[in-house]
Amino acid sequence: MILPISFHYIKPQLCVITTIFFFATTVLSSNPKFKACTPKSCGNGPSIKYPFWISHEQESFCGYPNFEITCMDKSPILRTPSYDFLVKDISYSNSSFTVTNMAAYEDNCPVPLYNYTFHQTPFTYSSENWNLSFFYNCTTEPLDHPTYKVDCAKNASHYSFAVFHKEALEHKNYSLNECQFMVNAPFSMNASVNFTDLLRMNYIEILKMGFLLNWTAHCEY
Ligand SMILES: *[C@@H]1O[C@H](CO)[C@@H](O)[C@H](O)[C@H]1NC(C)=O
Ligand SMILES: *[C@@H]1O[C@H](CO)[C@@H](O)[C@H](O)[C@H]1NC(C)=O
Ligand SMILES: *[C@@H]1O[C@H](CO)[C@@H](O)[C@H](O)[C@H]1NC(C)=O
Ligand SMILES: *[C@@H]1O[C@H](CO)[C@@H](O)[C@H](O)[C@H]1NC(C)=O
Ligand SMILES: *[C@@H]1O[C@H](CO)[C@@H](O)[C@H](O)[C@H]1NC(C)=O
Ligand SMILES: *[C@@H]1O[C@H](CO)[C@@H](O)[C@H](O)[C@H]1NC(C)=O
Ligand SMILES: *[C@@H]1O[C@H](CO)[C@@H](O)[C@H](O)[C@H]1NC(C)=O
Ligand SMILES: *[C@@H]1O[C@H](CO)[C@@H](O)[C@H](O)[C@H]1NC(C)=O
Ligand SMILES: *[C@@H]1O[C@H](CO)[C@@H](O)[C@H](O)[C@H]1NC(C)=O
Repeated sequence: MILPISFHYIKPQLCVITTIFFFATTVLSSNPKFKACTPKSCGNGPSIKYPFWISHEQESFCGYPNFEITCMDKSPILRTPSYDFLVKDISYSNSSFTVTNMAAYEDNCPVPLYNYTFHQTPFTYSSENWNLSFFYNCTTEPLDHPTYKVDCAKNASHYSFAVFHKEALEHKNYSLNECQFMVNAPFSMNASVNFTDLLRMNYIEILKMGFLLNWTAHCEY
């Protein structure tokens, strides 16, 4: 197995070269050749810089492939196979960023129909996130349990709703078998929201707060 060994051998070198390159871009930023990677924004939202980069506006060597940002209507968007996410905030110092599913802004019925997947990316859910669980096309509505109404996804005989603790529902003998499917949507409470507020909000407002992702050490992508 010569190939995998040489592959692993080469990776650290690439990493060192990249690191030197980005050091050089910082030091030599007065040189027009290195202007390609100066931090930029889409118009709205955070400043975009390494390891992120803006396609069509910055060179791909300014960041890593998974960190490609697309500007849409002046907003920074992270595209994934399942959903497009609005990048609301990036904290470069602690390697984390806040994103919101664009569906929360655009769709007539802005509900998540798939679980978000970030495997095979450098991104992981921060431990600060909570889940709002969406249940679709259920034959009954849970009694005695606070739920968020998702009326746009119901019909005459089937209900859809969202809850914070799906385990608590199961405790009350509500069986998830009554529903066609469920999806977990992560969210994190922004600084101006407390639990009391959370119960008064609707599910769209909760989704719009977004959730936190971390990215991990650069040389492993
Ligand atoms: C990350 O840093 C920002 C500001 O630098 C701070 O507001 C935020 O709470 C930090 N996030 C975490 C998860 O530590
Ligand atoms: C994400 O970052 C936060 C704050 O820096 C930290 O508490 C948490 O453990 C990190 N999560 C992962 C999965 O790395
Ligand atoms: C939210 O749900 C996902 C699975 O869809 C799970 O991996 C994650 O641990 C859950 N987070 C919390 C805080 O329960
Ligand atoms: C619920 O079922 C109806 C009828 O089969 C379908 O049109 C609708 O898309 C389903 N709802 C969801 C959220 O999948
Ligand atoms: C409502 O949706 C369910 C689940 O998909 C479907 O079986 C049922 O036929 C629908 N009923 C009406 C009245 O559309
Ligand atoms: C749930 O069902 C079990 C078994 O039928 C029963 O023992 C239990 O009291 C029920 N719990 C509630 C909260 O109704
Ligand atoms: C989403 O994830 C949850 C928990 O991992 C799982 O029970 C559920 O079936 C998933 N939903 C879909 C639509 O794949
Ligand atoms: C939650 O925040 C609201 C204002 O947004 C405030 O009126 C209320 O007292 C707060 N509740 C708690 C329990 O801190
Ligand atoms: C917090 O989230 C609420 C609900 O989505 C939003 O109205 C508010 O503007 C957000 N605040 C900040 C500081 O992002």
